Amino acid sequence: MPSRPRRAGPRVSVLRVGHRAGRDPRLTTHVALTARALGAERLYLHPPDEELASRVARVGQQWGGTFRVEGVVDWKALVRAFDGPVVHLTMYGQPIDLVAPKLRKASAVLLVVGGAKVPSALYQVATHNVAVGHQPHSEVAALAITLDRLRGVPGPGAWPGATHALVPQAHGKKVRTLRGAS
Ligand SMILES: C[S@@+](CC[C@H](N)C(=O)[O-])C[C@H]1O[C@@H](n2cnc3c(N)ncnc32)[C@H](O)[C@@H]1O
Repeated sequence: MPSRPRRAGPRVSVLRVGHRAGRDPRLTTHVALTARALGAERLYLHPPDEELASRVARVGQQWGGTFRVEGVVDWKALVRAFDGPVVHLTMYGQPIDLVAPKLRKASAVLLVVGGAKVPSALYQVATHNVAVGHQPHSEVAALAITLDRLRGVPGPGAWPGATHALVPQAHGKKVRTLRGAS
């Protein structure tokens, strides 16, 4: 099946600040699943949410890969210690297509998305404030488009360690069960 060739992009970590455990588990789960599916290595979650991390880990057990959710208490310390550009996704920032060429040259990038409220310090500590369009929308959409700009969309095929893989179909659903499935 033809798929877009993947760009040799940077290693990407994602930081989600302002998660409200018990209030927006579905949205943060979608942030995690989108980060995983589109090639990020990990989601740093502030504040930590063990239940959500376990739920996402179970997806990895079935579909493979090494993506993980790590709880973070002090997001500012994480941002300061990160060895690479820190990119805060916000509608107030500079256009994505202006900044993406620079980011593709980095070896590691930290993408930061907010929730209902964004701490104002984030605008100052970020290396870049980047907008995906200049209208309000969603952290999931902003993350997906940015990951596409940085790394492209992965093609089909089983991920390492997967017990299941999809077989792309024009119509209907087909899942292959791999060795190691119980
Ligand atoms: C629902 S918005 C919250 C916006 C928040 N009220 C604020 O003060 O910015 C949640 C997150 O989606 C992301 N987001 C929304 N629209 C965006 C856009 N146009 N470009 C980049 N990121 C965006 C940002 O990461 C934002 O923190």
